[in-house]
Amino acid sequence: MMRLFILFCFFSLSPLLAEPLSMSLNDDVLGLIVFKSDVQDPMGKLASWNEDDDSACRWAGVKCNPTSNQVVELNLDGFSLSGRLGRGLLQLKSLSKLSLAQNNLTGSINANFARLDNLMILDLSENGLSGSIPDEFFQQCGSLKSLSFASNKLSGEIPKSLGLCPSLASLNLSSNQLSGPLPEGISSISALRVLDLSRNGLEDKIPEGIESMKNLRVLSLKGNQMSGAVPGGIGSCLLLRSIDLSENSFSGEIPESMGEVRALETLDLSANAFSGKLPSSIGNLVSLKVLNLSGNSLSGPLPGLLSNCKSLQVADFSRNSFTGGLPDWIFKGKFQELQALDLSSNFFSGQIPTNIGDLSGMQFLNLSNNSLVGSVPESVGLFKEIVALDLSDNKLNGSIPSEVGGAGSLKELRLQNNELAGNIPVSMDKCSSLTTLLLSHNYLTGPIPSSMSRLGNLQIVDLSYNNLSGALPKQLANLAHLLTFNISHNQLQGQLPLGGFFNTIAPASVDGNPSLCGASVNRSCPGVLPKPIVLNPNSTGDTVSGSLSPLLGHKKIILSISALIAIGAAAMIVIGIIAITVLNLRVQYISASRSAAAHALSGDEYFSESPGTDANSGKLVMFSSVDPDFSTGAHALLNKDCELGRGGFGAVYRTILQDDHPVAIKKLTVSSLVKSQDDFEREVKKLGKVRHPNIVSIEGYYWTPSLQLLISEFVSGGSLYKHLHEPSAGDSKSSISWNDRFNIILGTAKGLAHLHQMNIIHYNIKSSNVLIDSSSGEPKVADFGLARLLPMLDRYVLSSKIQSALGYMAPEFACRTVKITEKCDVYGFGVLVLEIVAGKRPVEYMEDDVVVLCETVRGALEDGRVEECVDGGLKCSYPPEEAIPVMKLGLICTSQVPSNRPDMAEVVKILELIRCPSEGMDELV
Ligand SMILES: *[C@@H]1O[C@H](CO)[C@@H](O)[C@H](O)[C@H]1NC(C)=O
Ligand SMILES: *[C@@H]1O[C@H](CO)[C@@H](O)[C@H](O)[C@H]1NC(C)=O
Ligand SMILES: *[C@@H]1O[C@H](CO)[C@@H](O)[C@H](O)[C@H]1NC(C)=O
Ligand SMILES: *[C@@H]1O[C@H](CO)[C@@H](O)[C@H](O)[C@H]1NC(C)=O
Ligand SMILES: *[C@@H]1O[C@H](CO)[C@@H](O)[C@H](O)[C@H]1NC(C)=O
Ligand SMILES: *[C@@H]1O[C@H](CO)[C@@H](O)[C@H](O)[C@H]1NC(C)=O
Ligand SMILES: *[C@@H]1O[C@H](CO)[C@@H](O)[C@H](O)[C@H]1NC(C)=O
Repeated sequence: MMRLFILFCFFSLSPLLAEPLSMSLNDDVLGLIVFKSDVQDPMGKLASWNEDDDSACRWAGVKCNPTSNQVVELNLDGFSLSGRLGRGLLQLKSLSKLSLAQNNLTGSINANFARLDNLMILDLSENGLSGSIPDEFFQQCGSLKSLSFASNKLSGEIPKSLGLCPSLASLNLSSNQLSGPLPEGISSISALRVLDLSRNGLEDKIPEGIESMKNLRVLSLKGNQMSGAVPGGIGSCLLLRSIDLSENSFSGEIPESMGEVRALETLDLSANAFSGKLPSSIGNLVSLKVLNLSGNSLSGPLPGLLSNCKSLQVADFSRNSFTGGLPDWIFKGKFQELQALDLSSNFFSGQIPTNIGDLSGMQFLNLSNNSLVGSVPESVGLFKEIVALDLSDNKLNGSIPSEVGGAGSLKELRLQNNELAGNIPVSMDKCSSLTTLLLSHNYLTGPIPSSMSRLGNLQIVDLSYNNLSGALPKQLANLAHLLTFNISHNQLQGQLPLGGFFNTIAPASVDGNPSLCGASVNRSCPGVLPKPIVLNPNSTGDTVSGSLSPLLGHKKIILSISALIAIGAAAMIVIGIIAITVLNLRVQYISASRSAAAHALSGDEYFSESPGTDANSGKLVMFSSVDPDFSTGAHALLNKDCELGRGGFGAVYRTILQDDHPVAIKKLTVSSLVKSQDDFEREVKKLGKVRHPNIVSIEGYYWTPSLQLLISEFVSGGSLYKHLHEPSAGDSKSSISWNDRFNIILGTAKGLAHLHQMNIIHYNIKSSNVLIDSSSGEPKVADFGLARLLPMLDRYVLSSKIQSALGYMAPEFACRTVKITEKCDVYGFGVLVLEIVAGKRPVEYMEDDVVVLCETVRGALEDGRVEECVDGGLKCSYPPEEAIPVMKLGLICTSQVPSNRPDMAEVVKILELIRCPSEGMDELV
């Protein structure tokens, strides 16, 4: 009771008293209770502060000296206290640390705080204190070592008396509204280690005498309005670890003496008006981790000595006037720590070094807005942690390397405003984190890959001002986070995707594509399908039905017709080549009933569109020596029932041209992968030149930007795979005789040898790609060289395209550093040989085991029981003197090292020797 009374007196009298009250009140408990009564404590953090307690030592946030039981520390950080700082705390005579950071305290700073004789640490940061710092504050700052008023609303000048605090080691006044100059006296505080005055409105120069601040470790004047040159004396502050003068108006040259501050880890001079050359002494700063010179007027080349700064993690030279080539020392891979490099908006010229990818930890690389030429190095694919890659606004040419797609971490790719040509790499779909893709103002061609619709994080896409063509993949409508999708000023055709973002796409984003149609471009789509179509009656959501749905309404496809393609043809004979414009199915026709459709197939009604409407027609080219009948308006049907098979590159159908000439037509499913029309035609024509009895010849092709067909010789007997592994009913084992097997091996070898002679790598040799002619029994190699139609022989694309060829793939496909040569075919051939002799698949999945054929055979050979590997179906009717050398040959062909494999011409010779054994055979047997 007594205490409460005294408390009451204290309350009512204290404002009148200059000195704290008499000894009975000189009590920590009392002072703290008074403090508590001055503030609001909405969270009840001070609930344990009970005025009836004899000691405050167990109260929250209070720490006492164990011997004297006097309060020495008060830590009330983040207690959500608000209100004014009263005088209660002035009672705590033994207080050495007072920390009230992160509260909502208001009012002004009481000058008497500094009078607490023992106070060493005072932290009032992150509150709402206002007014100016009283001059008296520093006049009595006896033992104060660390002072923070950061993040308040203090205004006015920093008192000149600051210099009277000789023991002050840390001063943080950052983020207030202080103005005026830095007090001269500051340089006399020789104990000062940390000086943070950032984010105020301080003006004027850095005072002379800074060289006497020998203990300074951290200096931040960031975000003020200071000006003038940086005094050279800064070079004497040898212990400085961090200098941040950014966002001021400092000018003049960067002092040469800066290079003497060897301990420096951070140097941020960005956003000032520094000029002249960068002193090469900066290269002495071997501990430097962060160097930011962005946004000045620095000029000349970057000094080569910077190559000593091997600890650099962040280097920003952007927005200056630096000249010369890109500093090759950066790219020599010595900067293992470098995560961010910004050289943008300078006048750098020359090429991007090809070994740029050696900077393997790179996360942010910006070379934009310079005068760089040459191509984008493929080694950018080695940046496995890259988040942003910006090469925009240069003069880069060549194509976008498909390697760019290698990084799942990539969020921003900016290549706009260059001279890039070629296609948008399909491999881009591996950049699963991509949010921003800017490729505008280049010379890109080809289609927008449908794989782009798998980049579900895309927000901003700008492909405008290129020469992109073809139809827009409908699945783009699935991109849920799109904010911008600008495809204006290209040659895109057909209908805009329906749904999602595309329903509300701004007209300006699609302008300048004369052949686009849809509501947003204010052009209704013609009632004609943009291309011939292969209908899969079972398909529900793929491209085909997608393009039909707008025409058929949203009724499910009622066509139960077994599906078809109609290729109508009108002829034009051009020097040995018959080029035929292919017209399109009319919609009305498609929506007709099954029987009507079936009958109409032979009619003419659906060819009523006149030839020459480019957007709606494709180009059919048959290589010479085809029946002239074909040119007289023939049409062909691709019937689902006539599907012969499917592979990595598409489905194959059998069809009969009007002249009863059967052909196989392969519909390439890799259409989005295919290169430009020119490249496609050049490659196909090259493949079309191959004529050999053991090779399926290509007779022609059909091209539209979105659909490609390859027309080839029809081989009647089915694939070797079927013969070996799917024997006709009744037989459990294939019944091909040894002689036939040997012929198949030899014929296949001859076919491959011929391909290699014409410099064509097959890339996809396997038993389902060897067809058997039922009349002659001869094997014919099919599906060769299709990998050449891919935009780039990217081994990842390749291996994914041919992964169905499990077990045939040469080991070098998995190894980036080994070049893929025709020896990969020799490997596949070796596996095929073993497959033919053993009658087993290259990889067999048993119940809980995987059996790899060539390992089994190799093991058996070592154990001397290789005969056991020969197909049981052959019983004993095979000559071991042929079968065993053939198996050994197969094993040699499957050597791990490509150079250990024979070439196909040698293989043919060896096989011929095996057939008629002679003296040359000894070493093989
Ligand atoms: C300060 O007070 C405001 C409301 O007056 C509150 O939203 C905020 O969370 C408080 N801040 C702290 C650090 O307690
Ligand atoms: C100054 O205080 C602010 C706010 O508490 C803090 O973020 C900053 O790191 C401090 N400066 C230094 C150099 O410690
Ligand atoms: C360099 O400083 C500028 C301006 O102060 C800033 O915008 C930029 O983010 C900094 N660079 C890096 C890499 O941090
Ligand atoms: C690269 O630098 C330019 C200019 O300096 C800037 O406009 C652009 O935003 C930067 N790129 C990224 C990805 O930050
Ligand atoms: C490109 O650099 C020039 C000069 O360095 C600068 O004036 C311009 O603003 C920069 N452009 C962009 C887009 O950053
Ligand atoms: C790219 O530009 C360089 C020099 O500017 C030139 O030598 C080279 O031939 C160009 N390459 C292509 C593919 O256009
Ligand atoms: C289509 O579906 C039917 C019945 O579900 C099935 O028998 C047929 O094999 C399927 N055809 C194709 C090409 O998928």
